[in-house]
Amino acid sequence: MNQTEGIDRALEHFRELLEQQLKRVEQMKSGEGWADYSQLKPIVVGVVGGDGIGPYITREAVRVLKYLLQEEIAAGKIQLRDIPGLTIEERAAANKALPEDALAALKECHVILKGPLTTPKKGDPWPNLESANVSMRRELDLFANVRPVKVPEQGIDWIFYRENTEGEYVLGSKGFNVTDDLAVDFKVITSQGAERIVRLAFEYARKNGIKRVSAVTKANVIKTTDGKFLETARRVAKEYPEIQFDDWFVDIMAAKLVDEKRRKDFKVIVLPNLYGDILTDEAAEFQGGVGTAGSANIGKRYAMFEAIHGSAPRMVQEGRASYADPASMMRAAVMLLRHIGLVEQAKRFEMALDICGQFEKRFVITGRASGATGTQFADYVMETLKDPNLEGRWKSFQS
Ligand code: IPM
Ligand code: MG
Repeated sequence: MNQTEGIDRALEHFRELLEQQLKRVEQMKSGEGWADYSQLKPIVVGVVGGDGIGPYITREAVRVLKYLLQEEIAAGKIQLRDIPGLTIEERAAANKALPEDALAALKECHVILKGPLTTPKKGDPWPNLESANVSMRRELDLFANVRPVKVPEQGIDWIFYRENTEGEYVLGSKGFNVTDDLAVDFKVITSQGAERIVRLAFEYARKNGIKRVSAVTKANVIKTTDGKFLETARRVAKEYPEIQFDDWFVDIMAAKLVDEKRRKDFKVIVLPNLYGDILTDEAAEFQGGVGTAGSANIGKRYAMFEAIHGSAPRMVQEGRASYADPASMMRAAVMLLRHIGLVEQAKRFEMALDICGQFEKRFVITGRASGATGTQFADYVMETLKDPNLEGRWKSFQS
């Protein structure tokens, strides 16, 4: 391809991208209200098993949910619904990141519990489709990726508010090769997109009496987009004078999270998409690994809850899928319950998970035959939920 041709094509492509992004800005401006789950009957919970270890760990989380929600399900308040069509084989066959039928089925649910979905990359046996996670977050406008990390014995109690619909991700499959030698990708930040995530982080802090919010960017180098994110955060912070606001560059923040003297001081951390992706894996490692962390993807109309890790195809190939840790999906289910207003059930589920996974550890998951299976762990959680003294048992571990 010659240079002039390459540039002309690139410019045309770029114009289209800009038009699409400006359309998205208009949609954000027109903004719908938040879903009111107390008005819905039934609340439809879509379940996507996913790929690799996904179906194994999702199945266990669903087993506990069905046990915990017996009454609500029997009374028609909650309906669990399997959503087919989203495995990597099915996505590859449809040659779509999100096949239309599956997307339509997702949109008929109110909230979704989703196992990990394989994201193809260059060189895989699949067509190099966009990540289904990323398209789902965009198509359902799930702009806030909320990821808590807690290590009580080390005083760590963080909650990450990762922007989920912009940054490097939104046009991650829309970059182009201008010539054979020049490849270009894009990063997008909008005023509306930055503002809504920052505001949600501050609102969370205010509601929960948390006195500090930290923003993470690389605004010293990525001046325009990260600059906008930071400027927006500073502006919004002024509306929350009771909350201390500070900002960090992503490299030093990655370092500070391992600094035992300083890291306890971080509370709410708000950040653009890719930095959030990276730092939340790092953070989850302190808690026992990505297998222990759940994640909420929140939008005004829909919300989706998932593990923060991938589908671990190697575990399946090596015959270890049944030893995968379902705690991440169960933590995601806890967040789902809390989101739809089943706060009491969420609390009990969470206490049972703390007891089984962090305190008592009668069955320990190692990811191998040396440890418990996901099924054993789920049974253990349900046994624990049956304990009339659940709360007392949980409290006995708090020093
Ligand atoms: C995550 C995952 C996804 C992401 C992948 C699977 C596309 O790493 O949820 O953090 O990068 O967002
Ligand atoms: Mg990630």
